[in-house]
Amino acid sequence: MTILVTGGAGYIGSHTVVELINSGYDIVIVDNFSNSHPEVIKRLEAITQQSITYYNVDILDKESLRQVFTEHQISAVIHFAAHKAVGESVSNPLKYYHNNVEGTVSLLAVMDEFNVKRIVFSSSATVYGFNNQSPLSEDLPTNEANNPYGYTKIVNEQILTDMTIADPEWSVVLLRYFNPIGAHASGTIGEDPSGIPSNLMPYITQVAVGKLEQVNVFGNDYDTPDGTGVRDYIHVVDLARGHVKAVDQALNESKLAVYNLGTGQGYSVLDLINTFSEVNEIEIPHEITDRRPGDVAVCYADPTKAREELGWVAEKTLADMCQDSWKWQQNNPQGYQAGNMNG
Ligand code: UD1
Repeated sequence: MTILVTGGAGYIGSHTVVELINSGYDIVIVDNFSNSHPEVIKRLEAITQQSITYYNVDILDKESLRQVFTEHQISAVIHFAAHKAVGESVSNPLKYYHNNVEGTVSLLAVMDEFNVKRIVFSSSATVYGFNNQSPLSEDLPTNEANNPYGYTKIVNEQILTDMTIADPEWSVVLLRYFNPIGAHASGTIGEDPSGIPSNLMPYITQVAVGKLEQVNVFGNDYDTPDGTGVRDYIHVVDLARGHVKAVDQALNESKLAVYNLGTGQGYSVLDLINTFSEVNEIEIPHEITDRRPGDVAVCYADPTKAREELGWVAEKTLADMCQDSWKWQQNNPQGYQAGNMNG
């Protein structure tokens, strides 16, 4: 059975490709490499010991997408391809609505033409916005995001919901990710942000490797145990395995379903910095600075529904996440750019 993975060269997409192949699926990647590197394909081939079929195609380009659907018998799609920089979405909202919303509409139109009606969508805990209290469960209202990036996720969830209403043959699984970190155990694929990272873990690893001087801790006056922000960090391999369970379900049942993919456990910024230091035996210089506008104090999942309905639970610990992120960064201090791995 062949699964089309849009954005399959990205951070979460690439880890999901590995787990899909491990579970016996054939895969086809569609990626325009706008925020990923072709080197990922070579790394995936080394990990899986098989050749990876990929197309350098933009999902907005329907004609090229049609070509992919003509050349392969696709059973389902996992749709990762999207821009994801929150700050950029605030300064350039049209870029986000164009790519993330029109891109999905383009993909769904071509899927419909080819009668492929099974899709797993890459959503985010960001859809819960400011007004819901953790633990966050799937039935909470999701009508208010904190930024345009968040709104593209809300709108995409709505579009996909509307598809299932219009045509009950559509099978849709919306996956709301919490904070993915970590990397494949091989240390050969991982998160490779362009420019200065805005997320915490890649910032920590770049401090550890000497590219950045210190971590700025965005506020220690939140209503949390140590005053710093609390998040539900989840190992990207656990997250990837959640996608395999979701695609299994999408193939077996025609329905709309939404699941949180998180551990259910919140950790603070200082917990993450301290755990990273301890397990990797490396100092992480850090300083308390002002809060970052738009941040919530606490965000963690209620992961019950995914456990009960998908039979999925996150298994890896915060220590595993810190070790694997560091292994990836140490082996690839310049990310994929350098081509061959160091060390
Ligand atoms: C961020 C996005 C969210 C997106 C998610 C994807 C923002 C405001 N939110 O989530 O919409 O879905 O990434 O991965 O960008 N922190 C520091 N110093 C840093 C960086 C972060 O103290 O240099 C803190 C933050 O205040 C927060 C925690 O670390 O408490 C995690 O931040 P981050 O990794 O950026 O993730 P989110 O903000 O949760």
